Amino acid sequence: MSKKYSLHSRAGFLSTKTVLFLSLIFSVLFTQNTAVAQDDGIPTDEATISAGEKLFKANCTVCHAVNDKVIGPALRDVHKRRNLAWIQAFVKNSQKVIQSGDDYAVNLYNEYNKTEMTAFDFEDAEIASIVGYLKAESAKEIVVATEETTTTGGDEVASQEPSQFVNIVMIVLLVVLVLILAVLGMIITMLKKYLSQKDDLSEEDREIAEQTFDVGALVKSNAFLGLAAFVFTAIIMKSAIDGIFTIGVQQGYQPDQPIAFSHKIHAGDYKIDCNYCHTGVRKSKNANIPSPNICMNCHSSIKTESPEIQKIYAAIENNEPIEWVRIHNLPDLAYFNHSQHVKVGEIECQTCHGPIEEMDKVSQYAPLTMGWCINCHRETDVNTKGNDYYNKLVAKHAEHSKESMKVEDIGGLECSKCHY
Ligand code: HEC
Ligand code: HEC
Ligand code: HEC
Ligand code: HEC
Ligand code: HEC
Ligand code: HEC
Repeated sequence: MSKKYSLHSRAGFLSTKTVLFLSLIFSVLFTQNTAVAQDDGIPTDEATISAGEKLFKANCTVCHAVNDKVIGPALRDVHKRRNLAWIQAFVKNSQKVIQSGDDYAVNLYNEYNKTEMTAFDFEDAEIASIVGYLKAESAKEIVVATEETTTTGGDEVASQEPSQFVNIVMIVLLVVLVLILAVLGMIITMLKKYLSQKDDLSEEDREIAEQTFDVGALVKSNAFLGLAAFVFTAIIMKSAIDGIFTIGVQQGYQPDQPIAFSHKIHAGDYKIDCNYCHTGVRKSKNANIPSPNICMNCHSSIKTESPEIQKIYAAIENNEPIEWVRIHNLPDLAYFNHSQHVKVGEIECQTCHGPIEEMDKVSQYAPLTMGWCINCHRETDVNTKGNDYYNKLVAKHAEHSKESMKVEDIGGLECSKCHY
């Protein structure tokens, strides 16, 4: 302010036009200045922004994204909608701000069906770093997300289709064969009729024309009996072998669950990360099924009246676990480790579990047979990038092979790797 006054007093020496012009420029500069002053407190240095990014990803992405509405609003440009102090108060305790009668907060709360945002016990500086991160993100162009996850299951689907395809081709071929036989038969009878009506046939031709095809003799012939016996045993063998290999295979198993939990709503529509509920999947053998407490992070305020949600409350009140029906289940003799595949191998959940985010009710997508594990280990390259542990192995492998290093090359087919 003082700057502006001193400027005007000096301007007295100049012509009025110049004064007007100069004050116009300075008033523009000045208003821009206030904008900067309003931003004061929002950090712009990279270290703080990256600290803010960590906090945001660890605490907020369950309900917020920068560019998309998730459970809460998209936070792009939130620093332009609200000032830092308001955001700090709201993040610390949104209910307090709403109850204070703040119009903006009340409207937003109603717009989001009275979904309570979690209260965070953060320092002002921590919240400022998050806003710094959000501001930096808001300055970036919106990138249209490519739908990678939905296509990753593609290979698996493609590899399952051929067997069905082969069946269809076989059936079509069979039908065509029968048709050809029938048409041939008709042609023969027609030709015979035509020939027998002709008088000027030689003795030899007449013999051929009147020759009858003895079906009975053919059926009794050794060659035919041998062939029939062979086909018959082949069919029996094939179905018996198929049967043996599908004992215990539960592909497609889709039991009812005690609560009508939908992955389509949670992982699909609301894009909640799989790790948020299946907490072990990146760090241990087991993926874990979430405890009711995790559901309560949201359902203490979302859809509280729904009878399905009431079942969660009942489980917590009675201190009983929800009895989810297990779908995927390897026999005890086999060892499978999630983090090895998901974290080290960087395999998408959908490769093995299918499009879970589209399922209202989960079903077992893969056969989970030994052949299924082994096939993938034969076909899949080891993910070696950024993993020093593999550098030596890769160099060794390259000495005697031109092909990329598959899981089988690091021992993925050894019995003891999968069997205790
Ligand atoms: C359980 C879900 C949930 C979590 C977790 C959550 N929020 Fe929210 N947030 C909401 C909802 C819902 C709203 C809309 C207002 C309401 O319903 O209270 C909201 C609103 C906001 C707003 C106001 C947005 C606007 O457009 O004005 C800000 C800012 C905000 N949240 C920041 C955060 C930050 C920062 C975090 C992480 C530290 C966070 N939220 C974590 C659900 C959540
Ligand atoms: C909001 C929590 C939540 C999220 C997010 C979530 N799940 Fe689940 N998941 C569950 C619950 C609860 C069950 C048990 C009930 C059921 O089978 O539907 C389950 C079951 C499963 C099962 C079957 C487990 C069994 O019994 O064999 C698989 C596989 C699975 N989830 C994969 C995923 C994948 C992949 C994602 C991410 C795309 C995901 N989940 C996201 C809560 C969640
Ligand atoms: C990150 C937030 C979040 C978590 C965690 C979460 N849910 Fe949900 N859930 C939602 C949202 C959002 C909806 C959709 C509400 C709507 O349709 O308005 C929903 C809907 C539901 C519904 C449908 C309710 C109805 O009647 O329409 C059920 C059942 C449900 N959730 C069960 C669960 C269970 C069980 C868990 C824990 C394993 C869980 N949810 C964890 C956010 C969450
Ligand atoms: C390489 C294949 C593969 C990948 C990738 C994979 N899973 Fe699994 N998943 C399995 C197998 C096999 C089982 C059965 C394990 C058992 O019975 O011991 C299983 C079981 C589960 C279960 C049931 C509970 C448990 O721990 O046994 C859940 C939940 C689950 N997976 C979630 C996920 C999620 C979430 C991801 C992605 C982050 C994922 N899975 C990635 C193969 C896979
Ligand atoms: C979609 C492909 C895929 C499927 C299906 C799969 N795996 Fe794997 N598996 C991998 C990859 C990739 C690795 C290598 C991970 C790494 O870099 O260490 C691996 C590694 C392993 C290892 C460690 C091997 C070693 O020498 O270190 C074991 C054990 C294993 N898998 C068991 C299983 C079992 C059991 C199943 C079936 C229930 C299975 N896998 C299904 C891709 C798969
Ligand atoms: C990549 C992992 C993997 C490797 C390597 C592997 N197996 Fe298996 N094996 C499995 C899985 C998973 C099952 C369970 C399949 C099922 O239930 O259909 C299984 C099942 C079996 C069974 C059937 C047991 C029963 O009760 O049905 C036998 C026997 C067996 N394996 C022997 C072997 C031998 C011998 C080797 C080494 C040549 C070997 N396996 C290598 C994963 C593997």
